[in-house]
Amino acid sequence: MMIRPEKPEDAAAIHRLTEIAFKDAPHSDGTEHLIVDRLRMAGALTLSLVAVEAGEVVGHVAFSPVQISSGEDGWYGLGPVSVLPALQRQGIGSALIRQGLSDLSVLGARGCVLLGNPGYYERFGFEADPNLTLADVPPEYFLRKAFSPVYAGGAVTYHPGFYG
Ligand SMILES: CC(C)(COP(=O)(O)OP(=O)(O)OC[C@H]1O[C@@H](n2cnc3c(N)ncnc32)[C@H](O)[C@@H]1OP(=O)(O)O)[C@@H](O)C(=O)NCCC(=O)NCCS
Repeated sequence: MMIRPEKPEDAAAIHRLTEIAFKDAPHSDGTEHLIVDRLRMAGALTLSLVAVEAGEVVGHVAFSPVQISSGEDGWYGLGPVSVLPALQRQGIGSALIRQGLSDLSVLGARGCVLLGNPGYYERFGFEADPNLTLADVPPEYFLRKAFSPVYAGGAVTYHPGFYG
C-alpha cells in the first residue's frame, strides 16, 4: 500500500470511494463525497492523500483550512476520511491520518480539528478542548490536535464546501 498526494485522474475514484465508505456509516448525511468535490473545486484541498493498493485508490483523507473566531490562522480540518469497506481495520485509515498530520506540520500548520469519535482519534493525539468549539455538535466529539502549545482558540468554522 502506497500513500501519495491525489492526482487529477484520482478525482472520480475518490468520489466513489467516499460515497461507498460513508454509505452505512453512523452520523453520515451521505454527502461526504460531494464535500470533497466542492473543496477541490474551491481550491481548498490543502492536502488530499490517497492510499493506493494494486493500482486502486482504496483510501483517502482530506484536509482543508478552517477559520477560528480569534482570527488565528494556520488551523485545518481533517476530513472526510474514507477506506474501502472491505479493507477497513487494516491500518489504512491510520496510515493516511498519520501521514496527513505529518505533512500538515511540515507545511507550518498550527493545528488540526475534526468531528469524530474520540475512541478512534485519540490515538493520533486528538482531544476535546473547551477552548475550541464547533456550533451545534456535542463538544466531546469535536477534537483538536495542536502543533504548537500556544493558541487562542475560539469558535471554529469549516470551509463553505462543507455546507453545500
Ligand atoms: C474511519 C475509517 C477511515 C478508519 O479507517 P480504517 O482503515 O478502518 O482504520 P484503521 O485500520 O487504521 O484503524 C482501525 C481501528 O479504528 C477503529 N475504528 C474504525 N472506525 C472507527 C470509528 N468510526 N469509531 C471508533 N473506532 C473506529 C477500529 O475499531 C480499530 O480499532 P482497534 O485498532 O482498536 O481495533 C474507516 O473505518 C472508514 O472509512 N469508515 C467509514 C467512513 C467514516 O466513518 N469516516 C470517518 C468519519 S469521522
